[in-house]
Amino acid sequence: MHNIAVIGSGTMGNGIAQVFAMAGFKVHLIDISTSSLLQAELIIHKNLDRLIDKDKLLLVQKPDIINNIHFTSDLELGLKDAFLVVEAISENILLKEKLFNQLDKLTPNDCILASNTSSISITSLASFTGKPGKVIGMHFMNPVPVMQLVEIIPGLLTEKEVTDKLIEISILLNKTPFVVSDFPGFISNRILMPMINEAILSLQEKVAGVNEIDQIMKLGMAHPMGPLQLADYIGLDVCLSILNVLKDGFGNPKYAPAVLLINMVKAGKLGVKSGEGFYQYNDLKKISGISALFAN
Ligand code: CAA
Repeated sequence: MHNIAVIGSGTMGNGIAQVFAMAGFKVHLIDISTSSLLQAELIIHKNLDRLIDKDKLLLVQKPDIINNIHFTSDLELGLKDAFLVVEAISENILLKEKLFNQLDKLTPNDCILASNTSSISITSLASFTGKPGKVIGMHFMNPVPVMQLVEIIPGLLTEKEVTDKLIEISILLNKTPFVVSDFPGFISNRILMPMINEAILSLQEKVAGVNEIDQIMKLGMAHPMGPLQLADYIGLDVCLSILNVLKDGFGNPKYAPAVLLINMVKAGKLGVKSGEGFYQYNDLKKISGISALFAN
């Protein structure tokens, strides 16, 4: 029970692969893009070096962790011997449907199929397979190596042993799991996204500026980042798609995304990953100032 596969080597996928490898699991990190795999390998090296610099990891431990991760674009090879697959591809239900169809065919009947989806129904993902009892949500938070939480989401047909197994594994990863029901946005995004949307509505209505909104939530509520910076960090396209899942899933207009958010996504202002959102970014991290869109 030590071989696992992570599919999708983006920010979430490479973080998930890293925490499994650090806990001693043998990980196949799978992506159709070889350049994304190379990038993931660089990021994992950098994150491990950061831990070594902070005396949280010994230099001698790094080679074993790196050796625990095998990077591949061959899905069939990557799934070989895996008792658990964690899907972390983009939040697109059609892509996930195609992948879960393949996973159903390429994995043994007892293999657990977990999804890191941030809002898509687990019961829907399970319906794309012939083994819905083995499908479950395993929702990590970004940055995965730092954030404590794992949201575990059994679908309507998920077997209890599968839920219990993921609780056990999350603890082995040094994370704290909480089990929640399969409702739109689960708990994390059902609560986080309306807060981010309200911050964007407040900006849109000119109640306050970017800096004021974020500082009020940082200094007044002790949030590590203000909601607008956090939206940039998550990706404005991701925030928009989660809000749409909430709005459609509950059929309630209170979740309707702010027009400003919709327009920013249309304009390609996606936050950190595009270099500009509510703030401007020089490289993938550094905030150089408030976006020209919102400067007075
Ligand atoms: N990988 C690994 N470690 C990282 C990291 C990364 N990408 N980014 C930061 N860290 C570490 C740093 O090394 C540092 O470690 P120490 O405490 O040991 O020194 C620690 O995290 C704090 O980092 P910094 O001092 O550089 O910066 P910071 O204090 O501003 O913290 C942050 C950065 C951890 C990202 C913090 O700002 C934070 O917690 N922000 C909120 C993050 C959040 O809300 N995440 C959830 C997003 S929602 C989601 O993911 C789910 C979804 O479905 C949308």
